[in-house]
Amino acid sequence: MVYYVRFLKTPKVQQQKGSFAISALICITTDLGDSFLAEDVDLMVRASGKSSRIAFERPTKWQASNRELAITLGPLPPVLAQQPLVLTVQVQHPQDYIPPRGPTIPLVVAATSAPFGPRPTPAEKLILRRIQYSSGDTRPMEIWEETGNSIARHIWDAGLATVTYIHKTVNSRGKTASKESNNGTCSQMPALKQVLSTSRNTPLQVVELGAGCGIVGIALAQMLPNCSVLLTDLPEVGEIITRNINAAQPATMSSLRYQNLDWDDPPENLCSQPIDLILVSDCTYNSDSLPALVSALDRLVRTSPEAIILVALKRRHDSETVFFELMESAGFAADKDNLLIPSQHGEDDEIEFYCYSRSVKD
Ligand SMILES: C[S@@+](CC[C@H](N)C(=O)[O-])C[C@H]1O[C@@H](n2cnc3c(N)ncnc32)[C@H](O)[C@@H]1O
Repeated sequence: MVYYVRFLKTPKVQQQKGSFAISALICITTDLGDSFLAEDVDLMVRASGKSSRIAFERPTKWQASNRELAITLGPLPPVLAQQPLVLTVQVQHPQDYIPPRGPTIPLVVAATSAPFGPRPTPAEKLILRRIQYSSGDTRPMEIWEETGNSIARHIWDAGLATVTYIHKTVNSRGKTASKESNNGTCSQMPALKQVLSTSRNTPLQVVELGAGCGIVGIALAQMLPNCSVLLTDLPEVGEIITRNINAAQPATMSSLRYQNLDWDDPPENLCSQPIDLILVSDCTYNSDSLPALVSALDRLVRTSPEAIILVALKRRHDSETVFFELMESAGFAADKDNLLIPSQHGEDDEIEFYCYSRSVKD
């Protein structure tokens, strides 16, 4: 499983004996926040002016036994102490480090704060994640999440993996299919490849359920021209997802919007056009909500019988198998694929992908 640098206390500028320093408190934890990274990693802590290239940085170390790590950075050069700053905490690889080939999901996902200073008020309780679609990406996508433990308002491993998976699928358009999976041809999902590669006169209609911060749907709208993506979730995500939509840069003729949608009470007419693709990432962790989720999917596909559903999940409990049983009972059949994401001590973790369509049309 992937680990995320989190701010337990967001950075602020402090005056110390006539000079200025930055203080913050971080931890490195899983998406669920249920365990901490249990290996030593070298970190680089960097303060930079929001609108300038001037930076001040210092290495530090996260140790396997850490549960939190206090960060102090200073004394700051006077030019930095007088302007709004952002603080980035990221893994510092040795100079001879060769990035692994394949998925670009790192073991430890870096964090950048919201702007703070020059006053001693702490930064807003937000974290900016910069996510590379593939190695060599010079313009990573940017997604804001909250610092707290909310399930909805931060990004999840399956969301990260789905971004990589969709990127591979979009970029494998026109390439010859191969039997390989895990490393990028996505040939196990012909229906997904087809839906993402067909050129259309009208936009591809995409709906995401349980979108959280919006990482998956926003990535798709940024990668794929001519698609209309409707992100949905419970009202509690409205603020963070709107922030991310406003900061997004959709591809030509693509668009993003958000609407509240509770699986327990989905609206009759969600879209004016038939839906082509429904995205569901990391939404099967709570078996109590699975009947409502499957029922919502069923209702959407009844009004858009040609729609396919891409479900991504990381297995957390045995009870999640109920999802597959409910989908089968609802007449859905799936192609399956997977993607390996890094885990600590050089191990891998698996994200599963299912591409559902209605096997029995009624
Ligand atoms: C683990 S998060 C996944 C977020 C995002 N898809 C990702 O992969 O990063 C699960 C999401 O499902 C949403 N969710 C849970 N129950 C829901 C319901 N009844 N109706 C709508 N959304 C729900 C939560 O609000 C949350 O955003």
